[in-house]
Amino acid sequence: MTRFPPGPKSSYPGSGFLRFRKDPMGFLERMAREFGDIVHWKMGGQNVFLINDANLIRDVLITQDKKFDKQLEAARSLLGLGLTVSSGELHRRQRQSIQPGFYRDRIAKFAEVMVQCAARAQNRWGENATLDIKREMERIALRVVGETLFGVNLESHAEAVSRAMTRAIGSPSNMMVPMLKWIEKLPLKGVRAAKAGRAVMHAVVDQVIRERRPSAGQTDDLLSSLLVADDQINDASDRQLHDEVMNLLIAGYETTANAMSWAWYLISQHPKVEDCLHQELDRVVGDRSPTMADFEALRLTQNVIRESLRLYPPLWIIWRRTLEDYPINGYVAPAGSLVLMCQHVTHRDKRYFPEPLRFNPDRWTEEFKEHMPKFAYFPFGGGSRQCIGDRFGFLEAVLVVATIARKWKLTLATGHPVVPAPLFTLRPKYGLRMIATRR
Ligand code: HEM
Repeated sequence: MTRFPPGPKSSYPGSGFLRFRKDPMGFLERMAREFGDIVHWKMGGQNVFLINDANLIRDVLITQDKKFDKQLEAARSLLGLGLTVSSGELHRRQRQSIQPGFYRDRIAKFAEVMVQCAARAQNRWGENATLDIKREMERIALRVVGETLFGVNLESHAEAVSRAMTRAIGSPSNMMVPMLKWIEKLPLKGVRAAKAGRAVMHAVVDQVIRERRPSAGQTDDLLSSLLVADDQINDASDRQLHDEVMNLLIAGYETTANAMSWAWYLISQHPKVEDCLHQELDRVVGDRSPTMADFEALRLTQNVIRESLRLYPPLWIIWRRTLEDYPINGYVAPAGSLVLMCQHVTHRDKRYFPEPLRFNPDRWTEEFKEHMPKFAYFPFGGGSRQCIGDRFGFLEAVLVVATIARKWKLTLATGHPVVPAPLFTLRPKYGLRMIATRR
């Protein structure tokens, strides 16, 4: 008989799922605290394993990754068969054709656009304006992805995309339990809203492609090269092209906007860090705009982003399905099990991060980075499915925060509740109302 690792007892059928669904981050934190590095329970009839040890996570993402598949069928209506959800040979080919768009020298060229987009946004702010910083960061991130990867200005779509994504973006629990697919067929308000959100996103992507097709090959952005490749294949690949644009758009803007929003929140709560950040910007950047050449010298700014990604990882959980029986530490995860790796839990583990709840950008010394087990910190995942936009997203967050913090101080509006909402991405549930004052 299969021996499973310890885990919560099921008090009634579906209790594992309901507890996870009600408070996913809290539930997983409690599981790790109570049962340790490998926890097992049943959810929707499936065996679920939470692993919370850096080396076991490394094995799943890197050394043993052939034994796992990403399981994101439930996201197909939005993401189709794009890079984030595909698998096997299709994924390998997609990654090969998209990767050159993210080479180091390419990303460096995007720096100027990132800074300009941040500057344009802040130029609209007035002294003591109350802003929803989450919305502002979304607007910037959308514009950056639009201009750098697709050669279009997405600013006019910002409000529609933001609203659509709020409706379309689901909870991870829905995606993990395949039998929940039938919910999509019910005439529920939430289901209708999600469908409407997805329809808006599909329309925006169609418009981007329509706008750019005539000038395919004339510019050197990623979409231009994908369009040229698409023409050389056949019309059937139009669907694939649509999916790629959708995947890059969503993966590229939603995560980075959340990363930057959480960074602003944390900076505003830590005046000493804020002072040091301002000093660094005055010293390194002075009166001009930041550039790619400043990136290395912006040590604290980088560490502020690193530490925000630790405490508020925009993708706070990733999961895989076992393709065959998988031995873990003397146990076996049968084929078809779900293996959860939760950045929110591992990034707050005191074995890896002393005083884990403290926002302490200074912990990121070279020595600390060198000695930390690699997968104690994995905001961008790892292995063959590692975030393709990791450098892009990190650079953008550093440069946008540098551009804005050089001129503005953002203070959380009195009484504004900041509540993390662990949807597919980790968002501030009620946005982030902040007051902007000039420095
Ligand atoms: C701070 C910002 C970002 C964070 C925290 C983040 C996080 C992640 C994580 C954790 C994964 C792996 C998911 C898994 O293994 O299941 C991932 C994958 C991915 N990300 Fe990002 N990401 C960010 C920015 C970006 C940007 C800017 C882009 C593109 C412009 C992007 C595009 C993608 C794509 C296409 C994948 C799928 C890669 C594959 O499966 O081959 N991400 N991201």
